[in-house]
Amino acid sequence: KYQTKIFTGVENRKLPQSVDEWRGMARSTLTKDAWDYLEGGAGEEDTVHENRSAFKKWRIRPRYLRDVSKRTMEAEFLGQNRESPFILAPIGVQSILHKDGEIASARAAAKMNMPFILSTVSSITMEEIVKKSPEGEKWLQLYPSKDKNIIRSFIKRAEKAGYRAIVVTADTTMLGWRERDLNNAYLPFLRGEGLANFFSDPVFRRRLEKPPEEDLIKAIMEFISVYVNPFFSWEDFKEICSTTEIPVILKGITHREDVELAFKSGARAVVISNHGGRQVDGAISSLDALEEVTESGDLKGEILFDSGFRHAADALKAIALGASGILIGRPYAYALSVAGQEGIELYLEQVLAEMDLEMGLSGIKNLKELNRESLYRKY
Ligand code: FNR
Repeated sequence: KYQTKIFTGVENRKLPQSVDEWRGMARSTLTKDAWDYLEGGAGEEDTVHENRSAFKKWRIRPRYLRDVSKRTMEAEFLGQNRESPFILAPIGVQSILHKDGEIASARAAAKMNMPFILSTVSSITMEEIVKKSPEGEKWLQLYPSKDKNIIRSFIKRAEKAGYRAIVVTADTTMLGWRERDLNNAYLPFLRGEGLANFFSDPVFRRRLEKPPEEDLIKAIMEFISVYVNPFFSWEDFKEICSTTEIPVILKGITHREDVELAFKSGARAVVISNHGGRQVDGAISSLDALEEVTESGDLKGEILFDSGFRHAADALKAIALGASGILIGRPYAYALSVAGQEGIELYLEQVLAEMDLEMGLSGIKNLKELNRESLYRKY
């Protein structure tokens, strides 16, 4: 089903067929500022590279003669059966990548039956996204603001607009040291990009003397002072979990004890993630963290994974190590940059096609068959 479309998609031949090609084309499409913002990481980008190299120590052990003619990529998380394990990660300010911004991503995700996580700092408001892309499951990512009333307001708006989960990001209590952006003197927020959810929020607007339309600079400064919170604590997280009926997911943790605390505090799931290496330079890779987290004992919630997924083999390895779902990050942003909604759809079809082949050729008919025994640890 997946390959036929790709092999016969002659009209798509002008578009890339591999993630590296999408990446190359995105690089030549975007302004230097936008490219560096998308591609960059913290410090010397050690963690960005480590996220990739961690996959190399695990090898798949293919098994044969198992009749792999019927395969399914079905996965289960947040209490629902899914067609595939993939989810689109929250990536902020998509207007710097493509004119359609998050609308393109939300529509592509809906078309491919994958949940779409809208960033707090999206270029388009959460309500507008639902209006323009009513199909498909959406989750709202939340940077815990310093102002608890803003948090409550965002959660209420998300519930009302039909978002099905709140994804609280733990790893961004401050913005990481990103040298490319510092060299370019570029931060999209300082140019008024990515502030739609704040500028449309009644609680945020009450903090301003004049509305953003009248004094943009002051509004941007106010945003900078409240959008993240170095005081954020487990007590605050508990409070968020008890504020809402919809599932809360904690994203951006890598320590086993933090995972346990998250579940104890009321999280339904966690995303093992280091924000694609954009926050703590030198941090443990996300895959190594996943291995540590799932190594022993039962966990009282679901484990999702991101930071480093580029190929089907990576997804099989992460699932074998205990992930129920995989967030796709930069790769879909490359495809968005190159060809908007159509680009993301084509890229996601390629992901599913590769995944389906990689599974079948490894002797896997159902992702549930994957476990540590499916892998060989090289070092
Ligand atoms: C991100 N990420 C992110 N995460 C989040 O919780 N809120 C956000 O607004 C953003 N914004 C954002 C912008 C850009 C340009 C990137 C590249 C990433 C992190 C994202 O959700 C995910 O964790 C990483 O992208 C995963 O790493 P890889 O797979 O992209 O390397």
